[in-house]
Amino acid sequence: MAETLILSGKTVSQNVYKSLQTRIDSLISSGCTPGLAVVLVGDNSASRIYVKSKAKRFDKMSLFSETFTLPDTVQEKEVLSLINDLNTDNRFHGILVQMPLPNHLNDSTIIEAVNPLKDVDGFHPENLGRLTAGHPRFVPCTPKGIMRILDYFKIDLSGKHVVVLGRSNIVGRPISILTSLKQSYSNATTTICHSGTTDIPYYTQQADILIAAIGAPEFVTSAHIKEGAVIIDVGINRVEDESEKGYSLVGDVHFESVNDKVSAITPVPGGVGPMTIAMLVENTIEAAERLVSV
Ligand code: GUN
Repeated sequence: MAETLILSGKTVSQNVYKSLQTRIDSLISSGCTPGLAVVLVGDNSASRIYVKSKAKRFDKMSLFSETFTLPDTVQEKEVLSLINDLNTDNRFHGILVQMPLPNHLNDSTIIEAVNPLKDVDGFHPENLGRLTAGHPRFVPCTPKGIMRILDYFKIDLSGKHVVVLGRSNIVGRPISILTSLKQSYSNATTTICHSGTTDIPYYTQQADILIAAIGAPEFVTSAHIKEGAVIIDVGINRVEDESEKGYSLVGDVHFESVNDKVSAITPVPGGVGPMTIAMLVENTIEAAERLVSV
């Protein structure tokens, strides 16, 4: 069999950043520096790392970002009051509330408080509704990044069977919608598997393209997949080991086990992860362009 194609999100993201530069320059020269407000509640270590790398990227691209950190004891009304302020603060074209939120906060109440025109995560029901109806405004960053990887490597989904593992509002649900839309590079037959699915391998073995987004380290093995399948691994799981750092990052797919059997696969790290940030930058620029033109 031909050698496995490694779908490097790092390469695709560099390409995205290059192509965004003229749009950034033109916004800045018209007096608008695209700005992102990040709301981080609590002390989740993975969230802290993600938020830091988002801020670093914005800095590198000469974009503006500010992180608002709230304690995990914060009351819902204080979070809502901050979001209200950000909704009308002209320095910010995008607002991102880092997930997961502490249990005492209601995700929906907080997401619905964000101005849908600044919802660069695409989590607001208005934006999810538009996506479902086939005329999206903001597309959630990770699913959008996955579509961009497939597009870049010319993996056409039309007529193919896509199997998605996971039904989260952040990845599984929106990618299942995107892959099945009637548009170029989509048009797939999509199946979603989740914790209520009785025989997951039965479905995954039929996948031409398998998208694993369940947050279970190395869950997908050779036994789950069909020869020649394309694998998109969304998982970034920390597993403890004997290394100096004390842990390593692994995906939802057991890379070594499937590598010889698949035709293409995203690595972890360096696959989907870099695309999430690239699409956040793109969505923020899109938000700024839209807000400036009205
Ligand atoms: N947590 C994990 N992924 C994401 C994301 O794309 N956006 C937000 N806001 N939180 C996340």
